[in-house]
Amino acid sequence: MKEFIKKLPKAELHIHIEGALEPDLMFRLATKNNIKIPYQTIEEVKAAYNFTNLQSFLDIYYAGANVLITKNDFYDMTWAYILKCVENNIIHTEIFFDPQTHTSRGISFDTVILGISEALKDAKEKYSITSNIIMCFLRHLSQEEAFKTFEECLSHKDKIIGIGLDSSELGHPPSKFKEVFQKAKEEGFKLVAHAGEEADYSYIYEALDLLDIQRIDHGVQAINSADLMQRLKDEQIPLTVCPNSNIELKVFDNYKQHNIKKLLDYGLNVTVNSDDPAYFKGYLNDNFINLCENIDLTKEDIIKLIRNSFNSSFISQEFKNEYI
Ligand code: ADE
Ligand code: ZN
Repeated sequence: MKEFIKKLPKAELHIHIEGALEPDLMFRLATKNNIKIPYQTIEEVKAAYNFTNLQSFLDIYYAGANVLITKNDFYDMTWAYILKCVENNIIHTEIFFDPQTHTSRGISFDTVILGISEALKDAKEKYSITSNIIMCFLRHLSQEEAFKTFEECLSHKDKIIGIGLDSSELGHPPSKFKEVFQKAKEEGFKLVAHAGEEADYSYIYEALDLLDIQRIDHGVQAINSADLMQRLKDEQIPLTVCPNSNIELKVFDNYKQHNIKKLLDYGLNVTVNSDDPAYFKGYLNDNFINLCENIDLTKEDIIKLIRNSFNSSFISQEFKNEYI
């Protein structure tokens, strides 16, 4: 099964590029930029990656992002992820970035987006890997701040296909961002949002009904509402599920408890993704392999999950026909 998974060309729809910052690059950038990080060795970093919930991860993840200063740093982080795409046979990827994590530290929006987008352009040229960029608002910040970030992104509309919503979910429901998502829709952006990762399924309803999103990031809590399950099935709304993340952040106790097979068997449009691979012990293939080692996923299931990713991506129909 491992060889089967590795060989299949794949798409990834839920990867935070700051979550692909591996400890060795973090150390190199910290030294180069003279930034203090609270670790002496890579072993110490890995020991710190022992999370109890989403917030315990986010605190460490935002601290790690402090080492990113120059356009080249964003390029190098993105390029390192592209090399993982090559290794994992990911031929199309849609990556999230969190501009507010950087602009709040005095790094310009241009520095961030140019570093990321230049690496993705080179990925297309060197490896024929296609990609889209989705800008996320940090939901623990205000809608007013999201509006400011949105204004900044407009001069880079050619590089950003969609708008997303991430960070601390509990207490920050999608309704908090209704107006800025409405504006983003008017401007023609695709819309996605993290919902039903830790918070209950009402956040998924809000993301669908108030933000009018096209994909739900995570969404595993949908299983607690029969009505919502039926709707997700009828409308074939994609769920970008991240198994390693769910285990590392204790959404499920272990892989055997993960509900992805139930969601799939019910007929939902489920996909598999890595979320923050440098923090959650592995890239896309590892997510598939961990599932297969613990849950009865058939080869047909794997193919279905991968087809769902291509079908649910924001690539044009013409490209989709070529990929699938
Ligand atoms: N930012 C990075 N990873 C995230 C996750 N899993 N949930 C919410 N925000 C995030
Ligand atoms: Zn995520």
